[in-house]
Amino acid sequence: MQRLNEIDIKNKRVIVRVDYNVSVSNGSIIDTKKIDDSFPTLDYLVENGAKIILLSHFGRVKNEEDKKTNSLKPVYEYIKSLGKYDITFVDSPMGDNLDKAVQSLLPGQIVLAENTRFLDLQGKLESGNDVQLGMYWASLADVYIDDAFGSMHRAHASVVGIPKYIPHGIGFLVEKELDNLNRIITSPERPFTVIMGGAKLDDKIALIYSLAEIADHILVGGGIANTFLKAKGYNTGTSLISDDYIDNASQVLIEYHDKIL
Ligand code: 3PG
Repeated sequence: MQRLNEIDIKNKRVIVRVDYNVSVSNGSIIDTKKIDDSFPTLDYLVENGAKIILLSHFGRVKNEEDKKTNSLKPVYEYIKSLGKYDITFVDSPMGDNLDKAVQSLLPGQIVLAENTRFLDLQGKLESGNDVQLGMYWASLADVYIDDAFGSMHRAHASVVGIPKYIPHGIGFLVEKELDNLNRIITSPERPFTVIMGGAKLDDKIALIYSLAEIADHILVGGGIANTFLKAKGYNTGTSLISDDYIDNASQVLIEYHDKIL
């Protein structure tokens, strides 16, 4: 996998897949960290004269109503408010307006497209990794950079579709996370304790299995702890549970009973 500083991006149109899936309440972003973490990549691209197209998902979009609460507009407004980026927003993740905005980009300018999952209302184009959609986005750019560490496990058109067709690599956020992971996996300092949160066990079970082999302890919290509690027979009420993974949780608790807390 090529790293961003190994790729020629000067005057090139560069799609950056970011993870701007942040929590928003009454139109205000509660925690901007995920957005701020993309700035080293954006700064490098701006300084080196790339024309930048940002793609991100935001929440789950299952019906028209969901569009109102899952727009990336508040993210755009936050980035714009910082005053350091020449950024515009296009209210659709595909189509004429996006095409025009991309065509008129000058080096150092940024366009943020609306939530890629809006296209899930047209037959799960994004999350079903529609081939035409991946080709369409690829046609907008010369280079694809994945800097959406939190979304890399998704086989979506904006994640795995686009890089099939154009030169691609990883951004600085992904590079940093991979280097960190590599370091703790290959030569961890002991005792090595993993603290794992998140909403769903579905995404984490494979990771728990591989980390349990090398970690001394794994502390599960957040939503994923619920599924373990349910597997242990607790009444979890209406809490979020990964129902299809209760057996896996039981199995992990048996195999790694001395490690999972
Ligand atoms: C996250 O917030 O965990 C990532 O953005 C992935 O979101 P998703 O689980 O909706 O794909």
